[in-house]
Amino acid sequence: MLAEPAAAVTTTRLDKTYRSQRRDGTFSETHALSNINLTVAQGEFICIIGASGCGKSTLLRIVAGFETLSTGELYVMGKAPAGPGPDRGMVFQDYALFPWLSVAQNIAYGPRQAGLPKAEVAELTERYLDMVGLRKFRDRFPHELSGGMKQRVAIARVLANDPAVILMDEPFGALDAITRNGLQESLLQIWEKARKTILFITHSVDEAVYLADRVVVLSPHPGRLKLEVPVTLARPRDIASVEFNQLKRTLLDAIAPDIAVEAAALA
Ligand SMILES: Nc1ncnc2c1ncn2[C@@H]1O[C@H](COP(=O)(O)OP(=O)(O)OP(=O)(O)O)[C@@H](O)[C@H]1O
Ligand SMILES: [Mg+2]
Repeated sequence: MLAEPAAAVTTTRLDKTYRSQRRDGTFSETHALSNINLTVAQGEFICIIGASGCGKSTLLRIVAGFETLSTGELYVMGKAPAGPGPDRGMVFQDYALFPWLSVAQNIAYGPRQAGLPKAEVAELTERYLDMVGLRKFRDRFPHELSGGMKQRVAIARVLANDPAVILMDEPFGALDAITRNGLQESLLQIWEKARKTILFITHSVDEAVYLADRVVVLSPHPGRLKLEVPVTLARPRDIASVEFNQLKRTLLDAIAPDIAVEAAALA
């Protein structure tokens, strides 16, 4: 019998407590994540939503290897990672490009660091410049680009490293609606071509239902997995359809009590 292919990401009873030292030398603890059991299949597109502070970024940073877990287990492609690795690539909200490198050089950076032969670096750079539609802007520097273009470079840069899993923390959060819609389309096309696993954090329920194969809802204090909603609607999705809006309703109902608490705390 053939073995089941490993899941792209598995967390088992994952728990995270941050310990911070106060000015007076005592310690405070924040229980950021509690008992997170999540399995993400290879090639699956997962969106993570939930009120501010519910641990979305913490979860992504643990999967990325930038943050350690307190207890529980994490597996990426069947292995427990010891830290960050080339099997995972992260796209941040604030682009995180090298300002002194051109668009093409930013994309080439990872493959070059990995020691790939020059011809291969050039080939990868061209492929991903094309995939994100930035061939004409290859020699521009980040400060000469719009926010949407910067985020395209950030996505191309991650893709050029050929990670199995792409982690995206509110990547389109700072963009206007039209740019955001354009990037959502591009990302879906890239995902369909490149067959990567994606974990994508968003504050937008619309964006989650539009993009995801499955939406994962976290609730805060401590961050727990509250609900998982598969989205089986055919793509391209019709955001005005009854089915789309029913899913939105389900997700909004799931996060509404937490958002109300958050709003009251800030008032
Ligand atoms: N480095 C840190 N040290 C201590 N506490 C932290 C640290 N990072 C996050 N936290 C706390 O952990 C909890 C979860 O934070 P996290 O950033 O993961 O939430 P989030 O869901 O991404 O929120 P947002 O939607 O606002 O981005 C919060 O209470 C936060 O204050
Ligand atoms: Mg966050």
